[in-house]
Amino acid sequence: MKFGYFDDQNREYVITRPDTPLPWINYLGCEEYFGIISNTAGGYSFYRDARLRRLTRYRYNNAPLDMGGRYIYLRDDGADVQQPIFWSPTWMPTRSKLDEYECRHGLGYTSIKSRVNGIEAQTRYFVPLGESLEIWELTVINLRQITADLSVFSAIEFCLWDANDDATNFQRNYSIGEVEVADGVIYHKSEYRERRNHFAYFACSEPLSGFDTQREAFLGAYRGWDSPLAVEVGKASNSVAHGWQPMGSHHIKIHLNPGEQKKIIFVLGYHENPEDGKFDPPDTQVINKHTVKPVISRYMKLDEVGSAFQALQNYWNGLLEQLQVSTPDQHTNRMVNIWNAYQVMVNFNISRSASGFESGIGRGMGFRDSNQDLLGFMHMIPGRARERILDLAATQLPNGGAYHQYQPLTKSGNDDVGSGFSDDPLWLILSAAAYLKETGDWKILDEPVPFDNLPGSEQALYLHLHHSIQYVLDRRGPHGLPLIGRADWNDCLNLNCFSTSPGQSFQTTTNKDGKVAESVFIAGLFVLAAKELAVITRRQGYANEAEGLTREAEKMEEIVWATGWDGKWFRRAYDDLGEPIGSKVCKEGQIFIEPQGMCVMADLGLRDGRAIQALDSVAEYLATSNGIVLHQPAYSHYYLNLGEISTYPGGYKENAGIFCHTNPWVMISEVKIGRGDHAHDYYLRINPSAREEMSEIHRCEPYVYAQMIAGRDAPAQGEAKNSWLTGAASWNYVAITQWILGVRPTHDGLAIEPVIPLDWKGFEVVRNFRGVRYVIQVERQGSGNAVTLDVEGIIIKGTVVPFPPNGTQDVHVKVKVA
Ligand code: GLC
Ligand code: GLC
Repeated sequence: MKFGYFDDQNREYVITRPDTPLPWINYLGCEEYFGIISNTAGGYSFYRDARLRRLTRYRYNNAPLDMGGRYIYLRDDGADVQQPIFWSPTWMPTRSKLDEYECRHGLGYTSIKSRVNGIEAQTRYFVPLGESLEIWELTVINLRQITADLSVFSAIEFCLWDANDDATNFQRNYSIGEVEVADGVIYHKSEYRERRNHFAYFACSEPLSGFDTQREAFLGAYRGWDSPLAVEVGKASNSVAHGWQPMGSHHIKIHLNPGEQKKIIFVLGYHENPEDGKFDPPDTQVINKHTVKPVISRYMKLDEVGSAFQALQNYWNGLLEQLQVSTPDQHTNRMVNIWNAYQVMVNFNISRSASGFESGIGRGMGFRDSNQDLLGFMHMIPGRARERILDLAATQLPNGGAYHQYQPLTKSGNDDVGSGFSDDPLWLILSAAAYLKETGDWKILDEPVPFDNLPGSEQALYLHLHHSIQYVLDRRGPHGLPLIGRADWNDCLNLNCFSTSPGQSFQTTTNKDGKVAESVFIAGLFVLAAKELAVITRRQGYANEAEGLTREAEKMEEIVWATGWDGKWFRRAYDDLGEPIGSKVCKEGQIFIEPQGMCVMADLGLRDGRAIQALDSVAEYLATSNGIVLHQPAYSHYYLNLGEISTYPGGYKENAGIFCHTNPWVMISEVKIGRGDHAHDYYLRINPSAREEMSEIHRCEPYVYAQMIAGRDAPAQGEAKNSWLTGAASWNYVAITQWILGVRPTHDGLAIEPVIPLDWKGFEVVRNFRGVRYVIQVERQGSGNAVTLDVEGIIIKGTVVPFPPNGTQDVHVKVKVA
């Protein structure tokens, strides 16, 4: 069952009924000002940091689930006053019956339209490029035969900036709220009197009939957002908030003749004043509005709003043009050309902080996560990728390890969600290597980067990468495998935790500085990273060091074969007693997906058939129609020595859920052994568009990947959770574009090595790479994967299109696969 459809032409997903199984959200903003917005206008906004600079309030895990948003109410002032008629044109929060409803989630904007009693209302929400504000462009049309007198009310609730404090520290916060209202603009200035130089503002293009800034005055005591008193009686009370819950609502009255329409613009924004120019006059506590007024008045104009929207569309179209494909499969095309690329960008911006499943309070930018998010992002905005790599490296610790996350506002690392994940530093090598291949910008390696952001500790990025390797080499266990530390990619494989206290966090509690528990997964990742770094090192002119790295990679590979191979698949780890995890000798958790994917990606077993064996085991034990589960059998009870992985009921999350992040590793591995049918089949099992028809089971948005789909052990098998913010975005993008379609940046040029399904006759790719547009046409002529490249009419040797002479704009490549 579907709740909408893809409009590929307009690069939109169109939702045709408001009661989707879960709020289906979208993101506004792609630079510094962001918001999430659901298909019923729920959500919130923030400046750079969802926790520390929250503009609007949201109620998490509420009933209904989606509470708090960018609400507009319409009221029929001509209707019987005894029986006032008002409604939310976005359905929530009044949930009135709508005669028509349509939500279009597009790239960086959302537009929600509905009709009630002959009044059509459409609101388009977006953030103009280069601005710290959002626009709500409301169009009201009178489709009745008679005139309509309507009241329009806007409504947002201000958050007192630090979203965590806002949700907990009421003894203070009920007394600090402050606003100003001037020229129809509502200013939220809590804490502006003291250490903040920023404020929020909420403006409207129309003359006001009234306003409210105190929540209780607007809603009325004991009422909720579904029936605000001001809307019911059709009159705002001009309340000025002091303490309690500052909010913003404009009341506008409009008169529409039959067929007439009216556009109203609302602008919600964030603004900073210079420290010495906060007040005007200077000796008062009144906000200096000189700097913000030009911004506000600009966006009160319809033509400015129109061109800002056009600019946003052009921007997105430009980004997507970097890579477009045309294959026989519409789910592939749609995801690669539109939604997967878009989701990659959202992950780049938001990491794991704000979504329908991440509160914006808990997590900042993850070190491991952000490095992987970069893998699918590089080609869109290399300059921002560069900056991110340097920011991440600057949070690396002097011993080569890494903070697990940093706050985007301060860019400094913290241990709030734990530390000591032994895999973390290695991911920096993968992102740096991908950046070099994409851009050829070798100068980045010379950039001085501090450790732990400490001035004076700077070393070249190049050396940071070597510290990452050393960190792992220095921390090894009895088998010679890397020590797992708190955990590796699987946050919940906590082999040194031994937690017995309820509520203790497996991520932050340290019960043991373990010297025994080891990870085969990290060993595989190490081999992959060490090989990448060896290539970089050699190209930097350090042949001996490069050799050294290659030897370390080989040694690690030998150790894996000696201690990490279980006979038919790779083992997962060793616990604190030196017992294997992910082995046929285990009662539960006999086989895991992670080491199969990672070790084969690192080329282990490609020559001797053991890669095939490992992947056949994945197919036999882990693959389901909804995707590949993390392990089998699921853990049926809590294992003290395994940690959080065994706390989840079977089939959910890390206990044998389908982690969409890991599935692409298997797709890439299948490509490595030449099985295009398998690779693409796995790709389609979790491809959101391919699952659209079963939206009532999948439940999350059909246009983006979710972190997890419930596995075969769960009662709700096939149900997705934690959509949007997940390494699944980047890795699936990499798997399909670089491996299955096989168009892959290398240090020597663009590699083209497709490993596609047998029944594909061919496909096309247009890919911008280092300033050159590659037009690639692939034709299947036989049933294998052998590739012949014809570059501008000349057959070349090998599978890498060499860099063309300077100044070349287009390169045409004809590819035969046989
Ligand atoms: C979450 C985390 C990611 C981790 C994964 C598996 O998605 O963001 O860092 O690798 O869970 O535990
Ligand atoms: C929990 C989740 C895991 C996530 C971690 C983040 O362990 O299961 O997926 O990565 O929290 O702190």
